[in-house]
Amino acid sequence: MRHLLSTEGLDAATASAVLDTADTLKQTLLGREVKKLPTLRGRTVVTLFYENSTRTRVSFEVAGKWMSADVINVSASSSSVGKGESLRDTALTLSAAGADCVIVRHPASGAAHRLAGWLEEEGTQVINAGDGMHEHPTQALLDAATLRERLGDVSGRRIGIVGDVLHSRVARSNVHLLRSLGAEVRLIAPPTLVPTGADRWGAEVGHDLDAELPELDAVMLLRVQAERMHGGFFPSAREYSIAYGLNEARLAKLPEHAVVLHPGPMLRGMEIAPSVADSDRAAITQQVGNGVHVRMAVLYHLLAGEEIAA
Ligand code: CP
Repeated sequence: MRHLLSTEGLDAATASAVLDTADTLKQTLLGREVKKLPTLRGRTVVTLFYENSTRTRVSFEVAGKWMSADVINVSASSSSVGKGESLRDTALTLSAAGADCVIVRHPASGAAHRLAGWLEEEGTQVINAGDGMHEHPTQALLDAATLRERLGDVSGRRIGIVGDVLHSRVARSNVHLLRSLGAEVRLIAPPTLVPTGADRWGAEVGHDLDAELPELDAVMLLRVQAERMHGGFFPSAREYSIAYGLNEARLAKLPEHAVVLHPGPMLRGMEIAPSVADSDRAAITQQVGNGVHVRMAVLYHLLAGEEIAA
């Protein structure tokens, strides 16, 4: 395959190659006043977002521009989608207009896979920038890049993914990638926010954050996705914060080397105390910075170099 749609099935060698490329690109651009490489000159990349985004959309745009690609941003709300145009017709229109690669975010799980199928004959490549509750592969790759920088290696590490696992594409992509890279993954969440069958992902499930913290090398907090909880939110925000919010007392229970990650956007005061989010133990802005280099690497491997087999 020529797309990046998921981390499920992305083998460790390919993932490591992308992470190595991201690191090389980061070192290459470090301290440069003009961050511009000619690698993707003449290639056209379109971001097609049906859901809100700050980090993913902006970092893909920066990544494409730093690689000298022409980057065009399409948001569903300001496009002909608002007149009723289907995802398939929108994708074929973008391809006919010259897109070499479409980066798609969509509320429906599986949308990126459907898009890739429709665009296969056109030769247009697809990157999944988050599809419903399914996957967000570049988020998992940038999280792995950050863990490698902070911990030296991912293999053999014990990573706790904490919070709203039920609605989280970030959790799914991270479980698959972290396990492929040799980490042990713990899903730590209220019972109401663990999906049925999560035990089949190959991660252990627990509910007692305080008991788990001393054994973790990293805590990956998840955003509580109220917009996907149409039937209301249980536990309440207050109950959630008491049982799962990462405050200073809980931070002190972690080993000294352990790092705190959050994909953003974060709900300060509920998922994470502001003092923890802003502390040296948190790698949240480092994650965002790494997002640019990882997305450059993904564009490089898809459009200029080796194919990604996932
Ligand atoms: N982490 C993440 O996907 O953030 P955005 O929704 O801002 O892109």
